[in-house]
Amino acid sequence: MTQWESQLQAMPNSQTTTGRVLHGSALGRSDIRIDQFDGHWLVQTRDGDFPNELRNIAPRLARSVWWKKLDKDAKSAPEWVEGEKLTAPFPVKENDTDYLIDFAAGYSQGLFLDQRLNREKLHEKIQADDRVLNCFAYTCSFSVVTAQAGGIATSMDLSPRYLEWGKENFRINQIDPDDHYFCKGDVMDWLKRFARQGRTFRGVILDPPTFSRNGKKIFKVENDYTELVRLAASVLDESGGWLLCSTNHHQLHPWQFEPMLCEGVDLADRYVNKVETTPMPPEFEGDDYLKSFWLDVE
Ligand SMILES: C[S@@+](CC[C@H](N)C(=O)[O-])C[C@H]1O[C@@H](n2cnc3c(N)ncnc32)[C@H](O)[C@@H]1O
Repeated sequence: MTQWESQLQAMPNSQTTTGRVLHGSALGRSDIRIDQFDGHWLVQTRDGDFPNELRNIAPRLARSVWWKKLDKDAKSAPEWVEGEKLTAPFPVKENDTDYLIDFAAGYSQGLFLDQRLNREKLHEKIQADDRVLNCFAYTCSFSVVTAQAGGIATSMDLSPRYLEWGKENFRINQIDPDDHYFCKGDVMDWLKRFARQGRTFRGVILDPPTFSRNGKKIFKVENDYTELVRLAASVLDESGGWLLCSTNHHQLHPWQFEPMLCEGVDLADRYVNKVETTPMPPEFEGDDYLKSFWLDVE
């Protein structure tokens, strides 16, 4: 076994077929990440081309190998390197829940692996019939977990394509998406509308991109998260509820992020009862860019 092979991380449990297997410096690269999706490997590097040492590892270590450059501005889709050629989306499991992955979908493949511990905590938190609002839902992974745990999910996203993908994620878990709600459009607009209509939730999940543009409207985590929390807190059940607030903004420290959240709750005339944080999964070694706060709100 080569030195880099000995660094590979195992899956967290036998009901999980996707996860990060390498993160950090290896193979002479200062930043290399390998995610596996049911045996299909996605290698990501910031510098240089595909690492030569990783050539000819399929099918011994991986069913197929793909590569993408870690560059959020270029946003290129993974390139096939070797092994099976995927022609369609395929399912992976995380804690026995299925999610569809698509290597042809662009820069993101359908599941943010760094949110694994938040999905686990969400599953524990949901009580039967809890109404949960998943803002910036993407492919609705938090919504599927909500539904599996007995809650009723409302998924909100600008992208109809991602919401359709989300509905497929419900179906492959034998959950009827028609028993849940899907809202296409701008989160800020929907939150204002729900507040006017008096539509409330037991929990609201906020995991926005660091920057997004919707026509003339721009959302920036550093400028707009407090207002986002104010609006989210205003649609929580009067008897109390919770918020999951996440950001992967690298320049925002937890000690800067937490007061922004508390201010948002305060501005909604609500009160933060308890704050808990979720760490990043341990396989994401030494890089704590994802900050996640769970706020119990009264
Ligand atoms: C970082 S992803 C969210 C990941 C998701 N929370 C998860 O863990 O799977 C960001 C998502 O927000 C959506 N989005 C961006 N700006 C938005 C807006 N203003 N209103 C609604 N959705 C938005 C994008 O289409 C994308 O699906």
